[in-house]
Amino acid sequence: MATATNYSFPSCRAHQRQITTRAAATVTDQQQQGVVSPKRRLPLRKVPGDYGPPLLGALRDRAEFFYGPGGRDGFFTSRVRAHRSTVLRLNMPPGPFIARDPRVVALLDAASFPVLFDADLVDKTDLFTGTFMPSTDLTGGHRVLSFVDPAEPSHAPLKSLLFHLLAHRRQHVLPTFREVYGDLFAVMENELARSGKADFGQYNDAAAFGFLCKALLGRDPEEDAALGADGPKLVMKWVVFQLGPLLRLGLPRLLEDTLLHSFRLPPALVRKDYDRLAAFFRDAARPVIDEGERLGVSRDEALHNIVFAMCFNSFGGMKILFPSIVKWLGRAGAKAHGRLATEVRAAVRAHGEGGEVITMRALAEMPLVKSAVYEALRIEPPVPMQYGRAKRDMVVESHDYGYEVRQGELLFGYQPMATKDPRVFARAEEYVPDRFLGEDGERLLRHVVWSNGPETAAPTLRDKQCAGKDFVVLIARLLVAEIFLRYDSFDVQVGNSALGSSVTITSLKKATF
Ligand code: HEM
Repeated sequence: MATATNYSFPSCRAHQRQITTRAAATVTDQQQQGVVSPKRRLPLRKVPGDYGPPLLGALRDRAEFFYGPGGRDGFFTSRVRAHRSTVLRLNMPPGPFIARDPRVVALLDAASFPVLFDADLVDKTDLFTGTFMPSTDLTGGHRVLSFVDPAEPSHAPLKSLLFHLLAHRRQHVLPTFREVYGDLFAVMENELARSGKADFGQYNDAAAFGFLCKALLGRDPEEDAALGADGPKLVMKWVVFQLGPLLRLGLPRLLEDTLLHSFRLPPALVRKDYDRLAAFFRDAARPVIDEGERLGVSRDEALHNIVFAMCFNSFGGMKILFPSIVKWLGRAGAKAHGRLATEVRAAVRAHGEGGEVITMRALAEMPLVKSAVYEALRIEPPVPMQYGRAKRDMVVESHDYGYEVRQGELLFGYQPMATKDPRVFARAEEYVPDRFLGEDGERLLRHVVWSNGPETAAPTLRDKQCAGKDFVVLIARLLVAEIFLRYDSFDVQVGNSALGSSVTITSLKKATF
């Protein structure tokens, strides 16, 4: 591990001057939410927990993370209970023989987690996927933006390029979403009528990929002779080559642990698939690649960053988030559905073109829809794990203690435990669609951190907050609004899948008012 081994912590007074980080939660906010108020200048505590013997400790933790009781959540909560601490030491998968060093300091509450957003305190170089980095052979030989720290010279031009990708055809986003997801609902209705159920995920994969390419690039991938309808399938295979060490695919345990979690899958096996995707984007994204050249990014580097942003960040994000939203809404029940449908239809009647279409003005009049989206992002953050390497010695504060962390140590945050922290969120384990309404609700938004930063902040060229933050919230609001424009209510069946939830629609009750 890259710790500063000769370091000893400074005396108490010097320590007061040291960097102290704490969560955004202020006493006032928390009192208003009726939760415990934190004390300032918290007592220092040594980070508890241990890594166990070399190799064996990492293998033990990996087995428990993937296959232990309670799954991933159980892995973290059992350790919090054992050590009576939400900041602790543990090994993160995959460990041997993929990651060189699995040891982390885990941050498992809303107070300590935000240290990971501070570019002055943590270095994010090559940490997008955690303790290992997938081969750059999978991304055209380039380290794409998600792995680049803001201090690196390539970060700002690459992030500018992706801001441009998202903004340059902004007027196409709403109409394209309506067209593509309108078709999705029509197909799902037919499927329901035919077989009594419809798999949302399967239709969402094709819709998400088509929507992204049509809205952001003006090209229908299915009309591309070389790519056809294969886009989503090719992307998913390529994603498994990158995220395999962190996934459970449901294979027999020994096979899965050996094949996926212990060795890297050779990039050559997915080369042809990736080349097909890259060939499509080389042509379809030509105007964005041109913009890259103006920003000083080579055409090749721009291309592979666009492929990654479109396929991994955007398609991958929609593949996890959209089923999650449908799942939580489906479970919320008919009363919540009625409130959402009433809000959506009133706003569309007042501000939609001809009273039928979702416009930006109509969306702005749907606060409950917006809150319901934030609540889905809170209760099930689509990218649950974030990492950052301490740039210097510091004290990281949880609610009750300060913990000394040394320069070079790897900090890891398990986001679901930060955004379901009962000391910030009342009924933290419940999906409460109207949680973020009103002034009190809005004040809680800074604890919604799915984008690797508070929901109240905007991504910049100097930080690692998700470049797609506003786009993602917009399309998620569109999804909810489209559903309740069409339907009074719906039912779902939920299962697990390698990436997120598997959601089957079992009934769609058409709009009656
Ligand atoms: C549900 C959808 C999405 C989720 C949950 C999500 C989540 C995240 C998270 C957690 C990070 C920070 C990762 C880290 O460094 O630890 C991130 C970074 C990033 N995301 Fe997203 N994202 C989504 C969609 C998008 C979209 C649509 C784009 C389109 C361009 C995008 C582009 C990026 C980029 C470029 C970064 C790196 C930012 C930087 O280096 O400054 N993401 N995203």
